[in-house]
Amino acid sequence: MTYRMAWVGCGRHAEQMLLPQLARHDVELVAVCDLNAEAAQRIGQRYGVAHVGTDLQALLAQPGIDVVGMAVGPTQHRDISIAALERGCHVFMEKPTGANVADALAIEAAASRANKTVGVGFMKRFATANRMAHNVVRSAEFGNVAGFYGEYMTAPTYFSGNVDYTGFYLHHCVHYMDLVRYFVAPVLHLTVFRNEIAAGKQLLHVHFGFANGAIGTVVMGTIQSRGTPMERLQIMGDHRRVEVNGVIEVNYFRDPPFKADDLEASLSDQVDTLSWKPNFTAAANEDFKGYNALFKAFFENLGGAANDLPTIADGVEAMRVMAAMLEGIASPGTCIAVKR
Ligand SMILES: NC(=O)c1ccc[n+]([C@@H]2O[C@H](COP(=O)([O-])OP(=O)(O)OC[C@H]3O[C@@H](n4cnc5c(N)ncnc54)[C@H](O)[C@@H]3O)[C@@H](O)[C@H]2O)c1
Repeated sequence: MTYRMAWVGCGRHAEQMLLPQLARHDVELVAVCDLNAEAAQRIGQRYGVAHVGTDLQALLAQPGIDVVGMAVGPTQHRDISIAALERGCHVFMEKPTGANVADALAIEAAASRANKTVGVGFMKRFATANRMAHNVVRSAEFGNVAGFYGEYMTAPTYFSGNVDYTGFYLHHCVHYMDLVRYFVAPVLHLTVFRNEIAAGKQLLHVHFGFANGAIGTVVMGTIQSRGTPMERLQIMGDHRRVEVNGVIEVNYFRDPPFKADDLEASLSDQVDTLSWKPNFTAAANEDFKGYNALFKAFFENLGGAANDLPTIADGVEAMRVMAAMLEGIASPGTCIAVKR
C-alpha cells in the first residue's frame, strides 16, 4: 500500500535526517507545512509536493491523507498530533510526546478515540548496534538483565544568558527515558545526583531501580563537545555483558577461560568475545542511527505487524520517568517513585 502522507515542520531534523529516510518507503508526500514559508517551499520543491503552505488547517484539509508526520517541538507535537488524529489520520511524531505527562496522556486519549496509531521517534531502539545488543539481551543465552549503564552527553548549546535546561531534558534525556525501559524493564524509582559546574553546564548521574530487580545508572549532561562521540551502553547479565559504543560498535563479552597458561588457546565461538562494527566504506545502507528502520517498523505496524515500534504508550511511559527525574533533580539524592 502507498500511504498518502502530510508532513509538518521542515526544520533541520526533518530536512537532514527524517525526510531522506522516509523517501525510501512506499509513501506519497502530498502536503507539507512550516510556519517558515521558505523552509516549507524548499522541502516541497525537493519532494515534488502538491500542497505547500504555512497553515496546519489547510494541510489537514487536503483530501485522502492517511498519515501526518511531524518534527516540530514539544507542545506543537501535542496540538498537531491531536488535530491529525481528530482528522482520522495515523501519526508519526518525533520526540518528545508533548512537554509533560499530561500532554502525552492527551495524545494517547486522542489516539484511542480515533483508533489510530501514533509512532514515536525513539529511533535509538532501531540504531543497528543497539538493535543487535537488544537481540543479544533478549536471547535465552543472556538470561536476566542485572544492570544497565549508559552515557548520553551533549553540550550547553541552548543557553545564551538564560539558563533553561528544559530543551536538554525534552529533546535529549527523553531518549534514555525510553531506552532504559526498552533494554531492561519498567522503571519503578530513580535517584538523581547532580553537579552543576557552571551556569548551563550540568552533569547528572541518574540511578534507576527496575521492576525486575535490575539496577542502572545513566550519565547525562551538558558538559561535553558535540564534536566528540558521546554515547555508550552496557547491559550486564550473569558472566556476560553487551556493550555499545557510539551506536556503531558492539562487543558481547561472555565467560572465557584465562588464555595465558594455555598454549593451545584460540578463539572459541562459544565463550570468547563477539564484536561488530559497520563497514562505512560500503556503498550500501547508511542507516546506522535507525531512522529508516524506525519508519520501516512504523509502516509495518500500520500494516498490522506486531513489532517494537515505539508508540504513544511508550511516550507516556517515557514522560512519567522524565517527571520522576525532574522531581529528583529538585531533590538530589532522594529516591523518587515513578507515578502511574
Ligand atoms: N530523534 C532524533 O534524533 C531527533 C534529532 C533532532 C531533533 N529531533 C526532534 O525533532 C523536532 C524538531 O527539531 P529540529 O531540530 O528540526 O528543530 P527546528 O527548529 O530546526 O525545526 C522545527 C520546525 O518546525 C517549524 N514549526 C514550529 N511551529 C510550527 C507550527 N505550529 N506549524 C508548522 N511548523 C512549525 C519551525 O518553523 C521549524 O522550521 C524536535 O522535537 C526535536 O526533539 C529528534
